[in-house]
Amino acid sequence: MSDSLYVGLMSGTSLDGVDAVLLDASGAPRVLASVHHPFDAALRRELLALNSPGDNEVDRCARLGNELAKRYAAAVADLLRGCGKAAAEVRAIGCHGQTVRHRPDRGYTLQIGNAALLAELAGIAVVADFRSRDIAAGGQGAPLAPAFHATLFRHRSENRVVVNLGGIANVTRLPIEGTIVGFDCGPASCLMDLWALKHLGRPYDAGGEWAAGGSVLPGLLERLLDEPFLALPPPKSTGRDLFNEAWLAARLQGRFSTPPGPRDVQATLLEFTARCVAGACKGASRVIVCGGGTGNDALMRRLAQLLAPSPVESSAAHGLDPSLVEAAAFAWLAERSLSGAPGNLADVTGARGPRVLGAVYPK
Ligand SMILES: Nc1ncnc2c1ncn2[C@@H]1O[C@H](COP(=O)(O)OP(=O)(O)OP(=O)(O)O)[C@@H](O)[C@H]1O
Ligand SMILES: [Mg+2]
Repeated sequence: MSDSLYVGLMSGTSLDGVDAVLLDASGAPRVLASVHHPFDAALRRELLALNSPGDNEVDRCARLGNELAKRYAAAVADLLRGCGKAAAEVRAIGCHGQTVRHRPDRGYTLQIGNAALLAELAGIAVVADFRSRDIAAGGQGAPLAPAFHATLFRHRSENRVVVNLGGIANVTRLPIEGTIVGFDCGPASCLMDLWALKHLGRPYDAGGEWAAGGSVLPGLLERLLDEPFLALPPPKSTGRDLFNEAWLAARLQGRFSTPPGPRDVQATLLEFTARCVAGACKGASRVIVCGGGTGNDALMRRLAQLLAPSPVESSAAHGLDPSLVEAAAFAWLAERSLSGAPGNLADVTGARGPRVLGAVYPK
């Protein structure tokens, strides 16, 4: 067994699927291989349904947790096959799991994925449940990627901000010196995705092209920007618990002289995301973007406009494919856990102090 090879598994709020990476953590973290396994529409629907209260949740959670463990194990097997590595060469899998509730205000967060079954199927130790310990220590349990962002992207003469455009957008501010700040700044793709599914029948608006042909509706934009979460100071985190279909429907209700056209709504949602992100990046000398949202060209163009003259670049320009950063973060966090090193940044999450994160399921 190598002591330095870790697998990272991330399936995020977008419910698009699972990203798996193999990370060499012996020196500066290096991604050696990756695979993406998309979730089918049925699984996506069931997971989405679990994000809001419903019947028989315990059983549904447990069964979907088992199903996810099987999907995760298949992704790991595929990953290792592709790069000619054996399970025995991997020290651990860092498995984020699938968030079905995130309620730090109530003292809990829940990521499902049956880590015990994953360890059994993969034949590799699993580190899971990274967020609960931070919440137990009074933190938000999120975001957890900032320490990894700092390891990869902090620079000694530039005030950089890293933006992750997933379902939710989170930023990590990496000042030349001083405290790292990181927080969820609002939705990235989650609202645009649900609107695209409803009106185009597609899981996302590829390239943001549909949005790019619409016109921003100033009245709706104002209502979206009125959301109190946006004005809260960090530490803060959010999820589908807030930014969901009901939230959007409430803001689309009434008071419009003519009903807004779907394409203009999409343009407004894109503008809303861009404004939330740009507002959180103020003062950056360089903005480095990761997450699937980097594939939304219209959003990337709008961010570049709003943040000019600071450059807005994909993390690919800094050595790591933008769709792999979060999965790599959880491989790296697994290494931290097994080394007995803290994974959270207490200034980011608001926890009482640094904590060793995760629960270990031995091989
Ligand atoms: N070509 C594309 N054009 C527009 N949007 C895209 C494209 N490719 C991916 N996306 C968006 O990226 C999303 C997936 O991104 P990602 O996997 O980073 O999010 P996530 O699973 O929510 O992750 P996390 O919670 O870790 O941030 C998709 O749901 C979609 O909205
Ligand atoms: Mg994803």
